Amino acid sequence: MTTRLIDLPTPALVVDAGAFERNLATMAAVRPGATLRPHVKAHKSTSLAAHQVTHGHSTFTCATPREVVGMAEAGVGTDLLLANETIDPVRLAAMARVESATGAMVTVAVDSVETLEAARAAGLRNVLIDVNVGLPRCGIQPERAADLATRAAESHLVVRGVMGYEGHLMALKDRDEQRAKVLASMTTLIECSRAVRRAVGDDASIVSAGGTGTFDLYDPVHPILGQVNEVQAGSYALMDTHYGALSLPFEQALFVVGTVISRTRGTNDGSPSWAVVDIGLKSLGMDHGTPTVDDAAVWFCSDEHTTFSPNPGHTLPAIGERVLVRPAHVDPTVAMHAAMHVVDDVRRGADAQVLEVWPVDLRGW
Ligand SMILES: Cc1ncc(COP(=O)(O)O)c(C=O)c1O
Repeated sequence: MTTRLIDLPTPALVVDAGAFERNLATMAAVRPGATLRPHVKAHKSTSLAAHQVTHGHSTFTCATPREVVGMAEAGVGTDLLLANETIDPVRLAAMARVESATGAMVTVAVDSVETLEAARAAGLRNVLIDVNVGLPRCGIQPERAADLATRAAESHLVVRGVMGYEGHLMALKDRDEQRAKVLASMTTLIECSRAVRRAVGDDASIVSAGGTGTFDLYDPVHPILGQVNEVQAGSYALMDTHYGALSLPFEQALFVVGTVISRTRGTNDGSPSWAVVDIGLKSLGMDHGTPTVDDAAVWFCSDEHTTFSPNPGHTLPAIGERVLVRPAHVDPTVAMHAAMHVVDDVRRGADAQVLEVWPVDLRGW
């Protein structure tokens, strides 16, 4: 029996199959194969990642040990990078175990002697030197990158190269400004890459950076940007309204479907009408702002509610009607749900057919 969108208990995550496939094809045309290292944290789903494999990618970026272990156990991806620091001996050992059990190569980012020694002690072999290229988060200061690489080599670790995430530049709307700032960040990263290679050898060839907001800036013929040999984009597959506000060639493929549970009609004296849908802070990442409902103004979200009023000329939905909400931030939204429901065409609304269910199986740490 076919399941339709209206049959789903709400709130539920819905993925538009066509938009998703177009997003993957658009990205693979610009960053084919290993020139893209898709970031798993945006979707936390081995089923979704398997589709990225069919588009030619087999190297993946992860944010948590759980993502690395889950990907390896599912046999999705042959080269998994933890682009994040951890000193947890149990989780590092789990990644080392899964590497020897499955044959998937595991590499971890390090930005200190402590993270490097924790990786070595757990039995991991491969590291990437994580460099601060302007985002005050993880990453060693650039002038210390080569020393850390030398220390890693002395500890018999394999230094595969450098990474530097310029996350503070992802959402810049002015493309000229963005290009100039990304160039400055990547100039730093390339100088580090050269210093690291001088220190430990030319096999340290990976230069990993970037995301959805910058995916097309690393022109292969550019003397600096062309040396970034892999891009860590993740949001592009599903998208959100935060990235949707930029001029990117990716479509919103992820929605949260909810049910209208209450409504209040405006009165003739001009007081407005509103409807309430059963989607709130507990089913929606809000750190990038309130979500969007087509043809309506969203007033606010609370734990289990979103209140909105239809734009002029649009009708107040009935109680029981399904409403599609566009999240402002994909990653935390997906992480709140156990599964994504892939539908043939969200434009069919309640009648859209569920084609597949992808478990969000990489949640947790
Ligand atoms: C280390 C790292 N690389 C890349 C990305 C890019 O992700 P997105 O495609 O969502 O911009 C992120 C996002 O936060 C990140 O933390």
